[in-house]
Amino acid sequence: MAVAPPAPQASAALPFASAEQLDPRLQELLEAAATQLSQWLGSATQRSPLPGLSLLPEVAPQASGLGNGALLADLQLVMEGAYNVNHPGALAHLDPPPLMASIAAELVCAGLNNNLLAEELSPSLSRLERSLCGWLAEAIGLPPGSGGVPASGGTLSNLMALVTARVSRGLQHCSEAVVLASSAAHVSLSKALLVMGLPPSALRLLPTDAQGRLDPEALALELEACAAAGVPVLAVVGTAGTTVCGAVDPLPAMASLCRRHGVWLHVDGAIGAVYALDPEHAPRVAGLALADSITINPQKLLGITKTSSLLLLAQPAQLADTFATGLPYMEPSWGGSHGGDCGLQGTRSAEVLKLWLGLRQLGRDGITAILDGAIARRRRLQSLLEPWTRLLLRQGGLHLLAFSPEGLSAAESDHWSRSTRQDLLAAQLMLSRPMHLGRHHLKAVLGNPHTREEHLQQLAAIVGRSVEVLP
Ligand SMILES: Cc1ncc(COP(=O)(O)O)c(C=O)c1O
Repeated sequence: MAVAPPAPQASAALPFASAEQLDPRLQELLEAAATQLSQWLGSATQRSPLPGLSLLPEVAPQASGLGNGALLADLQLVMEGAYNVNHPGALAHLDPPPLMASIAAELVCAGLNNNLLAEELSPSLSRLERSLCGWLAEAIGLPPGSGGVPASGGTLSNLMALVTARVSRGLQHCSEAVVLASSAAHVSLSKALLVMGLPPSALRLLPTDAQGRLDPEALALELEACAAAGVPVLAVVGTAGTTVCGAVDPLPAMASLCRRHGVWLHVDGAIGAVYALDPEHAPRVAGLALADSITINPQKLLGITKTSSLLLLAQPAQLADTFATGLPYMEPSWGGSHGGDCGLQGTRSAEVLKLWLGLRQLGRDGITAILDGAIARRRRLQSLLEPWTRLLLRQGGLHLLAFSPEGLSAAESDHWSRSTRQDLLAAQLMLSRPMHLGRHHLKAVLGNPHTREEHLQQLAAIVGRSVEVLP
């Protein structure tokens, strides 16, 4: 006689929220976690921007699951050792404090647990994502009908752009194709070529001028040389905001060269494209909208929680033309193409929620205020450092300022930057130490809205002293 399978057990013992009523266990955990996080953010100035090594909790799950108290205590240990983004002296990288609405949306995103792979797994969110990409694309100047897709970071957006360029030019089976960019372009381009099966030599890096912008004459010559030699150019990549100096390539000149040669122009605007959201600031990234594709990272300045990067295109259908597989295990899309057919990623979280809610919380005025503040702080720090004439200050009109003293050897600039960074950290000011043109520099990213005049004055005083004691 067949034995009946055991009846399904009630799930109450497992830590999933009730499907029938508000679950007090969930509410209690979320409220306590929210309080703990609010306290962490609100006590940022009591810790250094870069915490020392902290005690980490046990990693492996124990035989029985932990209760809320133990979970929160473990969380606290990890939080103690986290990079302190909300500190006014956190000026090292492109990681600003998070917007409040963006944090809340991230929490809701986790609870909704929708999947942007396909519309039936995220009905409202798929529509929101498509609409927001369209709005953002037009807001930065792309023509009506433009749009795009989010991705987990600028690296992935750049990769998707190059793959789309390659397919749209019918070069997917060509191993001879090259990509042209400036020597200051982001290292993610090398990764993209690796993934695309192209040799490192396929990335041709062209010289920049003294401000770190691609030299358009060099680009013109290279495009002519490629045409003469029959080498297909897969794409030209312009950068709107280079990683060290924030330099913006001459995009209008690059666009007209690309048009003349029938070459795809991708603009890596991971840092700078957000400036196009404001008419007063848009000239800083002039020519951005002439691109075929643009990477934009609201995570890097606007305070949208990571990750928030989008690839925007004048003709967004090119994404599905490149990546669509038909997703044979899903119902057909009812509003265009499924999210999973518009890019490399399959399952994706609803990152759009924190971008949308964050932008709505800011309003256009708030966006402008962030951009105004970032530029004002870069200008102020620059003017505070100018009296030390031995410092070479490098900036490209955005909110990044890199500097190093003139006349030092590579080893001396390594030593100077290392010891000055330590002095700054002792004053709770954190700068980064990028290698640029063969020398270590110090770099300040002035996108942190908590940074005030006194921090900039202290920073300049410490840097100034470090230059005065140089031989
Ligand atoms: C100009 C530029 N492009 C792309 C990237 C890569 O972005 P992500 O780290 O989000 O992948 C960066 C990172 O700093 C960048 O500066």
